[in-house]
Amino acid sequence: MSKNILVTGGAGYIGSHTVAELAAAGYAPVILDNLSNSHVSVIDNLRALTGQELPFFELDCTDPKALNEVFVTAGPIAGVIHFAADKAVGESVSDPLKYYRNNLGSLITLLETMRAHDCADIVFSSSCTVYGQPETLPVTEETPRKEAESPYGNTKKICEDILMDHVKSQAPIKCVALRYFNPIGAHPSALIGELPLGIPNNLVPFVTQTAAGIREQLTVFGNDYNTPDGTCIRDYIHVVDLATAHIRALQYLDNQDTGNFFDVFNVGTGQGNSVFEIIKAFEAATGMTLKHKIGPRRKGDIEKIFANVDKSAKLLDWSTTRSLSDALKSAWEWQKALGAREKRGE
Ligand code: NAD
Ligand code: WQD
Repeated sequence: MSKNILVTGGAGYIGSHTVAELAAAGYAPVILDNLSNSHVSVIDNLRALTGQELPFFELDCTDPKALNEVFVTAGPIAGVIHFAADKAVGESVSDPLKYYRNNLGSLITLLETMRAHDCADIVFSSSCTVYGQPETLPVTEETPRKEAESPYGNTKKICEDILMDHVKSQAPIKCVALRYFNPIGAHPSALIGELPLGIPNNLVPFVTQTAAGIREQLTVFGNDYNTPDGTCIRDYIHVVDLATAHIRALQYLDNQDTGNFFDVFNVGTGQGNSVFEIIKAFEAATGMTLKHKIGPRRKGDIEKIFANVDKSAKLLDWSTTRSLSDALKSAWEWQKALGAREKRGE
């Protein structure tokens, strides 16, 4: 029988792609989301994509009673992938309490509920933001974490600490924290993708909205960094490759029989690309011309970061298979599908 995997935040960008990969890999995903940053239509699209019923619980992960009900009614939960969190860096500066309440509260409530139901396995969504601007590149999992640049970043650091402390307790708990680099792109079906609300903060949604004529032009935030072309460098990973890392993490957890443990993995491509390289790659992948101008640096941006992914390759037997061009093409297909849906009034 398929194993039930609870996916908190399963209607969100990375969560929905992971639900699709879980279903394809023979797991039975159970989706939980309060739809605070996602739309219920994602669930219908996931059902169409997977051909499965996919149980969906619309509730808040900080609500212990509601969460308990899921564990009681959804059948035995073999493991949890915990995406549910708020993620807007700027908003976390203006409303830090919202971030501490939601991101810490949802993890703590979840761990207490898992303990009550003897559910041990958890994959946690962490972020490369915990490294800040590292002294040496690429970053390995041994690279020291830095003081967080934002309350959002701090919640990821504290959540890792909570998990590390919890594994030292008597409660049965096995945890893998995945430190994501920059996820981009969409599912090849164009049925699911990123749904940014309002003006996108992130580069690729801004690029696709500019290409679609929704935004007038892209502003490149600074071209005077100490990088080959002066623009910042990131490790952009196709969201479907990122999703598959969660499947490998679940399998890795399942293979550990040594009791409680915590482990952490970088999930990136191992390659850094500049903002200018992203613009050029987008134009080459889509045949579009992207209107852009140079603006000032964005406060809080780090100059360059990319991952060393040797540990994930070795222990999770995972690596990326999709190119930057694949990712940008899929982001554009998704943008066009969104536009077509809007025109149909969906
Ligand atoms: P997202 O906002 O698209 O997905 C998060 C989902 O969680 C949303 O559907 C939202 O409605 C839901 N949610 C939030 N709080 C909840 C709560 N209390 N109860 C139930 N549902 C709740 O974000 P995403 O990009 O898919 O990110 C998923 C996870 O990965 C987050 O933890 C995020 O911090 C982390 N992460 C994201 C990135 C990135 O660049 N997207 C990078 C590193 C880490
Ligand atoms: C990428 C590059 C910008 C928009 C953020 C969070 C981080 C993580 C991922 C969760 C940078 C440049 C962007 C634009 C631009 N999230 N840019 N013009 O900043 O690496 O990371 O998302 O954990 O915590 O901080 O991603 O996509 O915003 O920016 O020039 O309009 O694109 O300066 O160099 P970032 P991003």
